[in-house]
Order: sequence, then structure tokens, then C-alpha cells
Amino acid sequence: MLGREVLRSDRVRLCFLEQRDLDDVYTIYGDPLCMRYYPALRTRERMQSWFDNVSADYAAHGHGMFGVERLRDGVFLGLCGFLHQDVDGDALVEIAYLFKSMHWHHGYASESAIACRDHGFNVLKQPKLISLIRPENAPSRAVAERVGMTVERTTERIGWQHLVYSINAPHGG
Ligand SMILES: CC(C)(COP(=O)(O)OP(=O)(O)OC[C@H]1O[C@@H](n2cnc3c(N)ncnc32)[C@H](O)[C@@H]1OP(=O)(O)O)[C@@H](O)C(=O)NCCC(=O)NCCS
Repeated sequence: MLGREVLRSDRVRLCFLEQRDLDDVYTIYGDPLCMRYYPALRTRERMQSWFDNVSADYAAHGHGMFGVERLRDGVFLGLCGFLHQDVDGDALVEIAYLFKSMHWHHGYASESAIACRDHGFNVLKQPKLISLIRPENAPSRAVAERVGMTVERTTERIGWQHLVYSINAPHGG
């Protein structure tokens, strides 16, 4: 069971991650299917530096990547939350999401990302939210489109072209 809750929707709740959650998180970063659009699998040892970065985001911004848990039974589903990105000189907040492959195709990622969109606009008062996605990553693009995002431009990350999906706050920020 995850720790302190940040937000919830019909079927899921998003919570701050803790050190004890790293084994669950590794079921994503250590899975070749989940990592097929990423440069490499992470080793279990490298998860600690990943968690240190997540903790630094919590300290600096009060938010970051969260754990996602199913409400009905407390099962860990995946990760969804906010990443602060520099996109060609623009400081932008990304909605990021990665889910355990056994929990794909139920709409949990879209539901979580939509909850983050609403939290990003209504609570964090962001004027705009983005998702950075490789063109080949069709499932991720579909999630961004369900969030209401459209492709704004392209950018290069880690040597690969990425689409910059974006959505502006309905109230104009
Ligand atoms: C990106 C990722 C989270 C998308 O997962 P997903 O299961 O396709 O997305 P969702 O959880 O929103 O599920 C959508 C699917 O559930 C179906 N669905 C069922 N109930 C649903 C509901 N209540 N609401 C929305 N969709 C629902 C949709 O029709 C869709 O079906 P499909 O997969 O057959 O097209 C997943 O592929 C992943 O974790 N990939 C690895 C990490 C990654 O690449 N992350 C993105 C980096 S940019």
C-alpha cells in the first residue's frame, strides 16, 4: 500500500513514493516491454538515484512522479505525475506516465493522466502542460490525446526526436 495521497479519481489514487516502493517501481523499469521506447533498462542498483531525483522534485516543487494504486484493492499499478522539463529553453511541466504491463488496456493510465491534468491546472495553476513522446510510442500518444493534448512541435531528447504534446489551461492560466 502506498503512502500519503495527493489526488484520486474514480478507480485510482496517486501517492507520494517512498523508499519502500522501489521494488514495485523496478517492476516497470526492469521490464523490457515497458522500456521498449527508452534507451535502456535500469538496473535495480540504479533505482536509488532515480528515487533520489524523485525526492528532490518533491522537496523543490511539492510534487513529482507519484505512485498509482487501484482503489478497490490497493494494488500498485504504475507511475504518473509531473516532471519539470527544459524544452529548448522553455521551462515546462510534463505529465509523465509508466504502468506495469499487466495493468495496460484498462484505461488506468488515461484516468491517472487526466486527474493530473486537472490537478495541474486547478491546484498547481500551470498555464500549460506537456507530454514528451517518441513518435513510435502509439499507446503513449493515445493517452496524451485522451488527456486532450495535441502535437505542438518536435524536440530532440537524448538524441531522439520527440513530439511535444501540449494542452493549455482552460481558464488561460
Ligand atoms: C503508455 C502506457 C501507460 C499506456 O498504457 P495503456 O494501457 O495503453 O493506456 P490506458 O491505461 O489509458 O488504457 C487504454 C486502453 O484501455 C482501454 N480502456 C478500457 N477501459 C477504459 C477506460 N475506462 N478509460 C479509458 N480507456 C479504457 C482503451 O480502449 C485502451 O485500449 P487499447 O489499449 O486496446 O487501445 C503504457 O503503454 C506504458 O506504460 N508504456 C511503457 C512506458 C511508456 O512508454 N510511457 C510513456 C512514455 S512517453
